[in-house]
Amino acid sequence: MESDARDILIDVRDVWKSFNGQAVLRGVSLQVRAGASEVILGRSGIGKSVLLKSIVGLLVPEAGSIRVKGEEVVGLGPRQLNRIRRNIGYVFQYAALYDSMTVRENLEFPLRKLTDLPEDEIARRVEEQLRLVDLAEAIDRMPSELSGGMRKRVGLARAIITRPAIVLYDEPTAGLDPMTAHDISDLMVDLARRFGITSITVTHDLQCAHIVADRISILEGGVFTHQGTYEELRKLEDPLVRAFFQAVT
Ligand SMILES: Nc1ncnc2c1ncn2[C@@H]1O[C@H](COP(=O)(O)OP(=O)(O)OP(=O)(O)O)[C@@H](O)[C@H]1O
Ligand SMILES: [Mg+2]
Repeated sequence: MESDARDILIDVRDVWKSFNGQAVLRGVSLQVRAGASEVILGRSGIGKSVLLKSIVGLLVPEAGSIRVKGEEVVGLGPRQLNRIRRNIGYVFQYAALYDSMTVRENLEFPLRKLTDLPEDEIARRVEEQLRLVDLAEAIDRMPSELSGGMRKRVGLARAIITRPAIVLYDEPTAGLDPMTAHDISDLMVDLARRFGITSITVTHDLQCAHIVADRISILEGGVFTHQGTYEELRKLEDPLVRAFFQAVT
């Protein structure tokens, strides 16, 4: 239906991506509706980060189509890609902050690169964003002076500071204790509601998946083999699905 098609903000169709002759993504498809929170589960090395990087054009698939807000990403040049990336916040797997910059400078960076906001608005936005993630006091610290959980929160703040419609989270809670991971997951839900964000979250953390997911998709063998809500997947007897849910009952 036409109205349905317009609702799809991220539309991945039959995407193939190989490295050294080895196909990682093998005709993968995924449709994410506007406002939805999609979670991707999958074994280590199966291609989850490759898929996220393909959506923002950091990797180029050999075949298939990736549409973001209706616009084809595959085959775009650098300038057009930059325009698309303005709509997408990316929280990298290892909370990749710029280590030689303060927290304030880390947050200013995307605003300077992607917008032409005046200086006073940049300063205001950085302070507001840090308050949102409860880190106002860390504004002049260096990343090396922050705990892992604080670094993750700065990474989140930096990814959404340009108010992107879409946020891609790669392992937002990895390496955190369960309580801090819970806080980060709650923060993701809070930010999504506040700013109407559509998101894809790659995680191994079932608690995070439970908190943030509208739907979970399981990547295996280069395609999504299972899709459903947390409760739907939790009930499945399939051994692959069980393997992910085994840790929780
Ligand atoms: N730039 C690259 N060059 C060559 N091979 C790559 C590249 N990026 C990823 N790969 C390979 O693609 C496969 C999938 O990698 P990917 O990083 O997507 O895994 P993942 O599912 O995110 O795993 P993890 O859960 O450990 O982060 C791996 O075999 C990896 O070595
Ligand atoms: Mg990864």
